[in-house]
Amino acid sequence: MSAIPSSKPQSSSSPGQTMRILVWDVPTRVFHWLLALSFAGAYITAESESWALTHATLGYTFAGLILFRLVWGVVGTRHARFSDFAFGPRSVMRYLRSLLSSKPEHHVGHNPAGSWAIYAILLGGLAIGLSGYALYNDIGGEAFEEVHEFFGNAVLLVVIVHILGVVVSSLLHRENLPRSMVDGYKQGESAQAIRGPRWIVGAALAAAVFGFWLNVNGVRDTLVGAPVEQLADAQSTGQAGDHDEDDD
Ligand code: HEM
Repeated sequence: MSAIPSSKPQSSSSPGQTMRILVWDVPTRVFHWLLALSFAGAYITAESESWALTHATLGYTFAGLILFRLVWGVVGTRHARFSDFAFGPRSVMRYLRSLLSSKPEHHVGHNPAGSWAIYAILLGGLAIGLSGYALYNDIGGEAFEEVHEFFGNAVLLVVIVHILGVVVSSLLHRENLPRSMVDGYKQGESAQAIRGPRWIVGAALAAAVFGFWLNVNGVRDTLVGAPVEQLADAQSTGQAGDHDEDDD
């Protein structure tokens, strides 16, 4: 599918016609920062047995967020939809070449190169989630351990490229892209703005994640400072998904 007009390159020769417009809805922003947090947390805790429950909880959060994003990519607002950033290899090459020119292509939604990193993160993230689920539930023995680790490292690599891309793009376009993922605003023409921030969906997503964290031993116990032995013990007796009965 090709990108809708909103994502077509805009010449930087008409700066007078652009203004600050709302581009990223709240659910996309909540998704982004919770995804970054859960990935970083799960990666850091991956090697430690005493943090295994926290790792699994953040892993489930990561996978759940990706499932949400797959749905939001179809029913979400204009620039959150996959149809807005469905770019082929030629668009990616043209975009990358333009970065070396004096008029780098500007996209109100995701740019072609960035969109490929996003798809890689989403697909790699699904592979991490599925292999992690298999591992945690003893499906397929050790077979999934290497798959899980491979995709964890592959996604980390893509994330590093993603962050470098965000920095380069911000510098070339003199636009603070990280801030746009916080407040939702970018430079664009008024007709390209989304109609509303979708606060309710964003709040529901955040509530679902925090509710999950507070009801799963791993993260809840970490938040209230349970001793490491208790977490390890809970892990060895397989109570990762259990609720309150045993923790005081
Ligand atoms: C300091 C760290 C990070 C910064 C500053 C950052 C910044 C950004 C920015 C500015 C965008 C929008 C790019 C655009 O304008 O097209 C974006 C999108 C995205 N980022 Fe990051 N990012 C960070 C970390 C991460 C991490 C750790 C992950 C994944 C584990 C991630 C996954 C994504 C995804 C999936 C999108 C697409 C958002 C969507 O459309 O739903 N980012 N990021």
